[in-house]
Amino acid sequence: MTALERYAAAARVAGCPREQVERLVRAGVVLQPRQLAASAAARLCDHPDGPTAVGYGGARGGGKSHWLLAQMGADDCQRMPGLKCLLLRKVGRANLENFEDLRRRLFGALPHEFSAYRGVLKFANGSRIIAGHFQSEKDIDAYLGLEYDVIGIEEATTLSSRKHQDISTCSRTSKAHWRPRIYSTTNPGGIGHAWYRVRFIVPHLKGVERETRFVPAKVGDNHFNNPEYTRVLANLTGWQKRAWFDGDWDIAAGQFFTTFRREAQVVEEFDDTRAREWFCALDYGFTHYTVALLGCTDGDGNVFVVDEHAERLWLPQRHAAGIKAMLGRHAIGVGANKRPLAVVDLKRFVAGADVFSRQSDGSTVAAQYAKLGITLRVANTDRINGWAEILQRLGDVDGGVRPTLFIHRRCARLLECLPVLQHDPNRPEDVLKVDADEDGIGGDDAADALRYLVATKTRGLALRKLTGV
Ligand SMILES: Nc1ncnc2c1ncn2[C@@H]1O[C@H](COP(=O)(O)OP(=O)(O)OP(=O)(O)O)[C@@H](O)[C@H]1O
Ligand SMILES: [Mg+2]
Repeated sequence: MTALERYAAAARVAGCPREQVERLVRAGVVLQPRQLAASAAARLCDHPDGPTAVGYGGARGGGKSHWLLAQMGADDCQRMPGLKCLLLRKVGRANLENFEDLRRRLFGALPHEFSAYRGVLKFANGSRIIAGHFQSEKDIDAYLGLEYDVIGIEEATTLSSRKHQDISTCSRTSKAHWRPRIYSTTNPGGIGHAWYRVRFIVPHLKGVERETRFVPAKVGDNHFNNPEYTRVLANLTGWQKRAWFDGDWDIAAGQFFTTFRREAQVVEEFDDTRAREWFCALDYGFTHYTVALLGCTDGDGNVFVVDEHAERLWLPQRHAAGIKAMLGRHAIGVGANKRPLAVVDLKRFVAGADVFSRQSDGSTVAAQYAKLGITLRVANTDRINGWAEILQRLGDVDGGVRPTLFIHRRCARLLECLPVLQHDPNRPEDVLKVDADEDGIGGDDAADALRYLVATKTRGLALRKLTGV
């Protein structure tokens, strides 16, 4: 069998009409089996009783971005002259995939013009793709109010349900032989997780799809991923592995730190001479707990949380004394140079942003602590990346990934709080916020302090690509 015959056979299995395959071949676009299945679903939108929305992916690295542009440009735009398409995508700070790269790779054999300035790609038959980039949802308003024959949404769960509805109203056409449609690609997680799951995933799993079709694809369905990216995905732990590697959309239910294992991450003893660098983090509260954690790194890059100060209804004076007493329980130096740890020995002492905001009398909590000899710096307060960092460090003992974060058993409040934290159902990659009850039971203050403590470390490139920041 020639490569072409193999391609034609794969497309037939996927359900692509013959004419569609010929069109892709003419454009020099070779799609993989799951991508072909998504393209076949896109053709179902032509039928009067067919779907009006096709979703593709549902996990990381399944060839989503590639498929979406290929389907719009190499199939739809070619078969319908004068087609007007909008491709919406959120741009992150380190967005490695670039429309420009993808365009060059995909449309080498299709004559077209591209204005990078206007973000418009125009084919010889007058069909065009408007590349709509947005930073925040309000930027999308610039594209609303017009009609588009095809709307493509990259990473649809980056949109709220409301914004998705606004966009849907622009899926209209004045062409006689065209049914307007929305194609989307997505991963679990994000503010749009819940609506996407209900609209696409649940009907797909139940086998009762009407207006929608969903074609799942995972990293293993795309043979063009670079091996490093595949490895990063395979080595994820906790909910990230379930969501991004396995394509599991049920992550919103239940415990957040599923890889927390007392026997693996909790230490009974810690020898202070192992510490290379000492640092502290504070989560401030008055009716809530004020939690300060003392941590250190060892020579192997492990983080140890060795002590905790947690009290409520105290003023800064009393906390400062308590925190200094906590430091004094540990020693720095060896032999004749050994002495109790003090604030000056800390590499950093970080706290949440609230500590730096002005109160009604014009002062800040940070200023009060500074007067008491504790200079606080603002912590990295990015919740999602902070939780992700903790998750990575907890490892996955059951899956053979060793932890790099250890907690001393004297950190009672932290150890009580960590395993009970839940996913936020509206934003599953975030922890659901909880307050302590009037007796001070529960609450997430200790976990916030832990997040500040570990998130100050420079983060790896691979994880940055995954989290899109
Ligand atoms: N059919 C194909 N032919 C050639 N290369 C492909 C094909 N499908 C995907 N690729 C390549 O595989 C890599 C990953 O694909 P893509 O970026 O589309 O995946 P993705 O699902 O969007 O990933 P992410 O979850 O990271 O956004 C890209 O370099 C892409 O060009
Ligand atoms: Mg992508």
